[in-house]
Amino acid sequence: MTVSLEMVAVVAMARNRVIGDGAGLIWHLPADLKRVKSLTMGCPLIMGRRTWDSIGRALPGRASVVMTRDASWAAEGALRAGDMDAALEHSRDWIAATDSARPEIILFGGGEIYAAGMPLCNRIEATIVDISPDGGPNAALFPALAASEWDHEVLEEAEPEGDVPGYRYERFTRKKPVTV
Ligand SMILES: NC(=O)c1ccc[n+]([C@@H]2O[C@H](COP(=O)([O-])OP(=O)(O)OC[C@H]3O[C@@H](n4cnc5c(N)ncnc54)[C@H](OP(=O)(O)O)[C@@H]3O)[C@@H](O)[C@H]2O)c1
Repeated sequence: MTVSLEMVAVVAMARNRVIGDGAGLIWHLPADLKRVKSLTMGCPLIMGRRTWDSIGRALPGRASVVMTRDASWAAEGALRAGDMDAALEHSRDWIAATDSARPEIILFGGGEIYAAGMPLCNRIEATIVDISPDGGPNAALFPALAASEWDHEVLEEAEPEGDVPGYRYERFTRKKPVTV
């Protein structure tokens, strides 16, 4: 039986689309980390090698599919993919082989991988952080979206609290769905 799969991008970005400084995140939003966990549990995560380095380990209950052009790269708990087709193949195979898997492939970042996978995404679960950081010389960005291609809804808003900036959970849904 062929199960139809959907690719979903999960991202936290600032108002100016900055997602990190190239080595890690610029903010700490504990509630958002919990949300990312629940959005991604039971799914393969397609991520770039730099994002893998910034996390430093495989996230439990999910597959870590790591894109790198280095054919000799290997890390415990990671499935190496030399291009997006290989990443999709690993993801499909992992879903098919895993009882608790959900039929969603998560585009997990960072900037290069969001840009590469965005044409395949049907949905974006975004946390928009209410800051506009510089991000430094290696800043990573989420790609600009063509507003005409996406429906958009705001799901929830959180006010700033202490050191934690305000943020919103937003969902973008592609008007003309694509399959992976
Ligand atoms: N806020 C968020 O939601 C979020 C989510 C994820 C990451 N981030 C942040 O994003 C930043 C990292 O993003 P980034 O853009 O610098 O790096 P990245 O996208 O994580 O990884 C880039 C690496 O992926 C590999 N790669 C890229 N395109 C490829 C392709 N077509 N085929 C095969 N391999 C490919 C290359 O690895 P090799 O050099 O090994 O060949 C490249 O150096 C960090 O600051 C991280 O914290 C933020």
